Amino acid sequence: MAIQPLPLLLLLVTISSHLASSIATNAHYLEAACSVTQHRALCMHSLASFSHSAAWKQKDPCWWAQAAVAVTLAEAKHVGLYLAKMKRGGRMRGGRAALADCIEGFGDAKEELHSSLGELRRLEKRTFEYQMSNVETWLSAALTNQDTCLDGFGRYKGKEVEEVKAKVLNATYFTSNALALVNNLASSGGFS
Ligand SMILES: *[C@@H]1O[C@H](CO)[C@@H](O)[C@H](O)[C@H]1NC(C)=O
Repeated sequence: MAIQPLPLLLLLVTISSHLASSIATNAHYLEAACSVTQHRALCMHSLASFSHSAAWKQKDPCWWAQAAVAVTLAEAKHVGLYLAKMKRGGRMRGGRAALADCIEGFGDAKEELHSSLGELRRLEKRTFEYQMSNVETWLSAALTNQDTCLDGFGRYKGKEVEEVKAKVLNATYFTSNALALVNNLASSGGFS
């Protein structure tokens, strides 16, 4: 039976074209979500792992808001640990007080991001607007804490200071993106 391999081939072609189109569709959801952010490349890169889920999840602006806040929280923790390590290492000469302030500011930002994520996970139709205004307030406060950290290094120079500032600036980009995705969720009205 020489014709037997044909159905298998057709099946494989069908499966692979289906996979290719679902991957393309998923990338489309991610791209659409990130289009409201100011740092799109970072958005696409940092949320890529959330683009492999079911389409119904990715159509929900709440999915992307939660994802963005979760990766921002992880980044804030990461930078907080890095700052603490920098302080312990004692390599920074000028800007030591600024570094101590930053560690405190990142501690606060971590709590604000944590509260935001908790709120986004228990959204209810009845209290949606109130909850979203809480999240927007906390995220704005987290962004302010991170910006204040950057400003604190004002006139200080040096390799360590530049390294810290680059990491903190990157963390502000994560937070700014999360705020954009949260604002997008708020204006979508949530439970439509
Ligand atoms: C920003 O942070 C992410 C995650 O830690 C990292 O992959 C990326 O390289 C950083 N970008 C810059 C410009 O430091």
